[in-house]
Amino acid sequence: MLKLNRRIAAIKPSATLAADARATEMKLAGIDVISLGAGEPDFDTPERIKEAAGKALAAGQTKYTPVGGTAALKNAIKLKLKRDNNLDYEPGEIIASAGCKQAEANVIAALFDEGDEVIIPTPAWVSFAAMVSLAGAESKFVPCPERTGFLLEPETLRRAITPRTRGIILNSPSNPTGAVYGPEQLTAIAKVLVDTGIWVMSDDVYEHIVFDGLAPHIFHLEPRLKSHGIVFNSLSKTYAMTGWRIGFAAGPKEAIAAAGRLQSQNSGNPNSIAQAAAIEALTGPQDELKPMLEAFRKRNALVVERVRRIPGFKLPNIPQGAFYVFPNVSELLGSRFGDKEITDGDGLAVFLLDQAHVSLVGGNDFGAPDHVRISYATSMENLNQAFDRIERAVAKLKR
Ligand SMILES: Cc1ncc(COP(=O)(O)O)c(C=O)c1O
Repeated sequence: MLKLNRRIAAIKPSATLAADARATEMKLAGIDVISLGAGEPDFDTPERIKEAAGKALAAGQTKYTPVGGTAALKNAIKLKLKRDNNLDYEPGEIIASAGCKQAEANVIAALFDEGDEVIIPTPAWVSFAAMVSLAGAESKFVPCPERTGFLLEPETLRRAITPRTRGIILNSPSNPTGAVYGPEQLTAIAKVLVDTGIWVMSDDVYEHIVFDGLAPHIFHLEPRLKSHGIVFNSLSKTYAMTGWRIGFAAGPKEAIAAAGRLQSQNSGNPNSIAQAAAIEALTGPQDELKPMLEAFRKRNALVVERVRRIPGFKLPNIPQGAFYVFPNVSELLGSRFGDKEITDGDGLAVFLLDQAHVSLVGGNDFGAPDHVRISYATSMENLNQAFDRIERAVAKLKR
């Protein structure tokens, strides 16, 4: 067998991308699959942003830029952090990367080492743990109970911290649960973290997709965290720009500079045209988000209602953000279709893809095998049709 690097060999392909790939294959074979697996808005990038890209291209902005992004982009990010989060960062404390994913991977690789533990409240986005293990560090999964709406409890966090703990990754609104921390809950978590010296990493990629006002920022609520805090964000979800690949990190200069050195050696600057588009996205009129948010709000209400009607799907709390619901399907585990037994959420996802031609993602890789993730980044019509199909398929299961 081919010998691979130990850390790379341990990496599994992203479950969400794998689910999408399977659905795409079926679609190519002519099967009418409805995808509830997507991790991206179904809206198009706003016209003004595309125009800015066109102008940059025509003006010949096709060369290398500074590794961590142009001065203009860093200034636009600085402005955004002040406007949206009330956080002050200087350009030297900001790095732009090929998506938030790259910013996170580079910062995590720069900060952590073998023997370090990084706390990941679970259920969590699939890539956090892979990034931590690529850095040679260990993920410490800390469960967030369903009864709290999947929010981390301060006392549980306190107990999870050991002398080896060097970081924690928070993500509100959350992928996969849609959970959003309110100011009181975040303040309580900040209180546990404030004097520990642990790196607090806040993944804010869904910050604008919140149905009840803006998500508060933990570094705004507790500014002392900023000296060992990293903000991660992206244009992917807010501006429907997943394919453009622009994300960023902001934090203490030395940490950002170290991530920049890594980026300079393994990839270089993010795409120059996408950087120009990102400047327009961040500094131009911000009103395109409103109709997007309204659409997500309506879909959220529909999906919650339809999920709760499916026998065996339990969704005790209404998710307040992002575009996912994460129902518990444990009542269906052990049920059978023909000679096949459904043993976990992943098995249920496979069954639904085969029998209902609806693609969604099982909970295993999010750290919650009794769950499935349903994305509602698709039209109301698709959602209604998908849930009709799921209801019919689930009725065929023998319990
Ligand atoms: C929580 C979270 N962080 C980061 C990302 C990556 O975003 P980007 O497209 O900017 O790399 C995603 C994408 O699904 C996500 O869900």
